[in-house]
Amino acid sequence: MNIAFLLNGETVELADVDPTATLLDWLREDRGLTGTKEGCNEGDCGACTVMVTDDQGAKALNSCILFLPQLHGKAVRTVEGASGPNGEAHPVQQAMVDLHGSQCGFCTPGFVMSMVAGHTNGATDHDTLLAGNLCRCTGYAPIIRAAKAAEEQPVPVWVKDSPPATIATSRMLPTSSHELAAVYAENPNATLVAGATDVGLWVTKQLRELDPVIFLNRCDDLKKITLGSEEVRFGAMVDMNRMGAAMVDLHPSYAEMIRRYASVQVRHAATVGGNIANGSPIGDNPPALIALNATLHLRKGDERRSIPLEEFFIDYGKQDRVPGEFVEAVSFPRQPDRLKAYKLSKRFDQDISAVCGCFNITVSEGSVTQARIAYGGMAAVPKRATHVEAALIGKPWTRKTVDAALPSFADDFSPLTDMRASALYRLETAKAMLQRYFLEDQGEITNVLEVSA
Ligand SMILES: Cc1cc2nc3c(=O)[nH]c(=O)nc-3n(C[C@H](O)[C@H](O)[C@H](O)COP(=O)(O)OP(=O)(O)OC[C@H]3O[C@@H](n4cnc5c(N)ncnc54)[C@H](O)[C@@H]3O)c2cc1C
Ligand code: FES
Ligand code: FES
Repeated sequence: MNIAFLLNGETVELADVDPTATLLDWLREDRGLTGTKEGCNEGDCGACTVMVTDDQGAKALNSCILFLPQLHGKAVRTVEGASGPNGEAHPVQQAMVDLHGSQCGFCTPGFVMSMVAGHTNGATDHDTLLAGNLCRCTGYAPIIRAAKAAEEQPVPVWVKDSPPATIATSRMLPTSSHELAAVYAENPNATLVAGATDVGLWVTKQLRELDPVIFLNRCDDLKKITLGSEEVRFGAMVDMNRMGAAMVDLHPSYAEMIRRYASVQVRHAATVGGNIANGSPIGDNPPALIALNATLHLRKGDERRSIPLEEFFIDYGKQDRVPGEFVEAVSFPRQPDRLKAYKLSKRFDQDISAVCGCFNITVSEGSVTQARIAYGGMAAVPKRATHVEAALIGKPWTRKTVDAALPSFADDFSPLTDMRASALYRLETAKAMLQRYFLEDQGEITNVLEVSA
């Protein structure tokens, strides 16, 4: 596979690239750019953060789980390219020096590149922007102070990258869903790579060799968000940051859940199609989408079919998808907002859910007329609580009804004990989430972050 991209302002052309070579390894081992650090090698610590600019703007990404072909036609900036051509410090670098934002310095290049990307975009929510960067020694206060101090400084010209115009170099880098459909139908055993936030770890942690590989990131038509009057539709390649932004007005609780999905870096890469197709029982989008009555749109060659999302998940590791078939989009009816998505994880930020409960309950004239309740982390697949729903529908929307529905959870779920939570804790917490939904609906404050003395 031949690819071309900009690296710190200079064009790089690479021939016969190993499709699963990571940007981090290439930077450090082939280019000697060792400013970009390797910490976890699985997207968790941010030490390897670089800034990547494409036609959607500048993004912080983890280079440890970014494959080189994903960069074709983009501009990459590493910490070596954060300072100017004559050694001028970037405003965030100067602020880190002035405000003592670094001690041992191992995490610093990653922090600096997250801050450079945030500064380039004029973003000021530094707690969120830096949640994916871990520091063991400085402490976060000086780093946040540095990010704030740099806010008013102009964006230096040297970091304003324009992605180069490139042409298709390989059929494994299709530029539309039509091209993808054709090449995948011919290579049904190929591995599809969307954001690589799962597949990246198969390579860096499980040392799996993947061949052939088809990259979806140039299929612009799969990145479309359609907010129709009847239907909302997300193309499979919509990333989590765009998904979260689109949900702010539609279903704010969904947007808040996405804010706690991994880190900015992972959310820039991870796609809704990947989060569904991987079939994980603890993916955050499926329960929320099932509660919204979502439909999954699949395509193989020229054949398309649409199924209720919950029917896609057959069993652990088994989905209703045949070789050569891919997720094209997911849609749900436009509806008044009744959704609450509760994500319970051991760590508040950047952690996978132990339990994710999503509720969409309609009440009319004091009675429950419709209920869609779905959970992640409670079964081998994302699953609806159909017995609980049945115990609510047609009943008065009261605490008594909610309490009477609680025993039905045992009919819906027999959760597992694992490192994230015990079976009993999962079952009890799932019940507590329904009670929380009811209390919030009565105007009670239940979010510990909103409670004040
Ligand atoms: C540090 C870290 C934190 C994370 N935190 C969370 C979290 O909080 N919540 C959460 O839900 N997940 C989390 N994840 C998991 C991961 O981000 C998601 O599962 C993600 O949505 C996968 O999407 P992707 O685009 O990266 O998929 P990829 O890794 O590219 O692909 C995942 C799987 O889906 C297949 N695939 C991708 N796109 C398609 C398609 N269009 N059609 C058919 N098959 C396809 C691939 O072949 C592969 O089998 C985290 C991951 C990391 C590394
Ligand atoms: S090395 Fe930890 S996120 Fe990449
Ligand atoms: S300065 Fe040492 S890890 Fe952050």
